Amino acid sequence: MELIIAKTKEEASRKAADLIACAVRKDPKIVLGLATGSTPETMYSNLAEDCKAGKVTFADVKSWNLDEYVGLEPTHDQSYRYFMNAKLFDHIDINKENTHVLNGLATDVNAECEAYEKEIKDAGGIAIQVLGIGSDGHIAFNEPGSSLVSRTRKVALTPQTIQDNARFFEKAEDVPRFALSMGIGTIMEAKRIIILAFGANKADAVAGAFEGAVSAFCPASILQMHPDVWFFCDEAAAANLKLKDYYAWHGEEVLKEELGG
Ligand code: F6R
Repeated sequence: MELIIAKTKEEASRKAADLIACAVRKDPKIVLGLATGSTPETMYSNLAEDCKAGKVTFADVKSWNLDEYVGLEPTHDQSYRYFMNAKLFDHIDINKENTHVLNGLATDVNAECEAYEKEIKDAGGIAIQVLGIGSDGHIAFNEPGSSLVSRTRKVALTPQTIQDNARFFEKAEDVPRFALSMGIGTIMEAKRIIILAFGANKADAVAGAFEGAVSAFCPASILQMHPDVWFFCDEAAAANLKLKDYYAWHGEEVLKEELGG
């Protein structure tokens, strides 16, 4: 795993956006896996600015999102389809027909999840998967205890995640208790993973993911088994890492190389 520590969320997001824009320029038909939540918002704004400035085009890009709440209409302002349109798709030149979000209203949940996995495979697999991390170490909605080889399925949110996400709803009771989520096994099949974490409330999860034992109790720790992970943090989120100076030095070097010097 490469770790890039920036002073601020803005700086880290810009660097992560550069890595994605560079990959899209190299492969204009790239398949992206995308995340919602507050973490990638700044990076999405950066990509929208790049697109408006003519530095990158998403015209032939396809995307699949990580997850969606069960029971929310795609037009609900807290649904992840709504989020993606509002934060990214409405501001770039992507063809919305090429953007995919799980249907949280599906009556046959298993069929929905199986079809989603098949679509990703048929598209050639995800080249870059964007991830955030929950304060409990979850990735997508794979909560602690999720099988490390899980596939796309219906999952139950933990009380911690419900509490963390309550800030987006009027009250905690309004947060859906279930979601459809790509599995950890699904995520691990992406060729490259770009994960972002900002703020002190992510510091324990980042340390668990990066330096803890690989364990279903911290689902993000499975990323230690992936050959191509780029972890972008601000200083607060990186605070509990024992070897952070070493990772940061090395991460900057390889990022420069990756972006062409
Ligand atoms: C969102 C997702 C979640 C979030 C995580 C962090 O699609 O899969 O795993 O990445 O809950 O959320 P924020 O970014 O709001 O702190």
